[in-house]
Amino acid sequence: YSLKALNTFGVAVQARYFCSLRTLGGLKSVMLWRREHPELPVLFLGGGSNMLFIADFPGLVVQVGLEERRLLAEDKDFVYVRAGAGENWHEFVRWTIAQGYAGLENLSLIPGTVGAAPLQNIGAYGVELKDHFYELDALDWRTAELRKFSLEDCAFAYRDSHFKSVEPGRWLIAAVTFRLPKQASWKTNYAGVSEQLAGKTLDARTISAAIISLRQSKLPDPAVIGNAGSFFKNPLVSAAKFAALKANYPNCPGWVQGDQVKLSAGWLIDQGGWKGKRVGDAGTYEQHALVLVNHGQASGAEIWQFAQRIMAAVQEQFGVSLEPEPNLIGG
Ligand code: EPU
Repeated sequence: YSLKALNTFGVAVQARYFCSLRTLGGLKSVMLWRREHPELPVLFLGGGSNMLFIADFPGLVVQVGLEERRLLAEDKDFVYVRAGAGENWHEFVRWTIAQGYAGLENLSLIPGTVGAAPLQNIGAYGVELKDHFYELDALDWRTAELRKFSLEDCAFAYRDSHFKSVEPGRWLIAAVTFRLPKQASWKTNYAGVSEQLAGKTLDARTISAAIISLRQSKLPDPAVIGNAGSFFKNPLVSAAKFAALKANYPNCPGWVQGDQVKLSAGWLIDQGGWKGKRVGDAGTYEQHALVLVNHGQASGAEIWQFAQRIMAAVQEQFGVSLEPEPNLIGG
């Protein structure tokens, strides 16, 4: 089964088995299948926007298509909205804004599904999913046990969660509930956002439009050119390491995070002259060195090789290790 249309890198890989999950009841068939093929892996797929397939997948790929959006409850200060894992993230954000709910506007236009969003705690322009998260329903798909995970249980961190790093592959996220404030507080001080909004009356719709135009100016549309957004996390280094870097590279950007400093992976890569570079069909985007792209026919392995060359170059020039952000499948 070809997965080319199901991963935003547009990599032409095959899954040995494939099915779509429309209702949670359908999970019974997946469990039966698993009993018959205990040796083969199972992969749950959302929008395929945060993964790089390095090889064909030898087991079963389950596309999660659980759809649902509704207002669950409200209290004096908040509304609680629930969305099925299979909902498209941006369509869900647009729906909340159309209902008059605020909070998710800075996360406009992020590719992928609602169910995949908690995995790496998606974030953009000063807001992370965890800032408006209430709880989620997940299934231990081997036992069909349904469990609620609170904000604390999810152990969200920068581009990380319980589901990504503590128990990868165990839980199928089925639905996510967000808690959105009735009294909105806008986050508009990110470079580029404040300029777009100068002189405008702030509301969720206006901010969302500004975020969309900023993203479109910097980030490639996966429908046009294959990519998975930022390919590396922004690395955290010690204050001493940052001071040493600054001594050699006075322009090196850095943001203090507790006793560490978050560097800009895009800047580090850009310094080595990698922006817009290309080896075969694997490359970096012309407008943003942190985004790896597939110009058409690159394989996952070729993109990964290209990524490793960038990692080695940044390591050599700056002594900084870059960590890939998307999930590498079959690496
Ligand atoms: N920069 C360069 N050259 C480049 C790209 C960036 O020098 O080619 C420098 C510039 O100094 C720029 C700075 O990097 O000011 C930061 O760039 P940008 O605002 O684009 O943010 P980022 O740190 O590269 C992060 C997220 C993005 C998110 C933006 C906006 C990560 C790994 N990436 O990128 O998330 O949209 O901030 O909040 O944290 C994603 O995760 O897929 C993603 C796109």
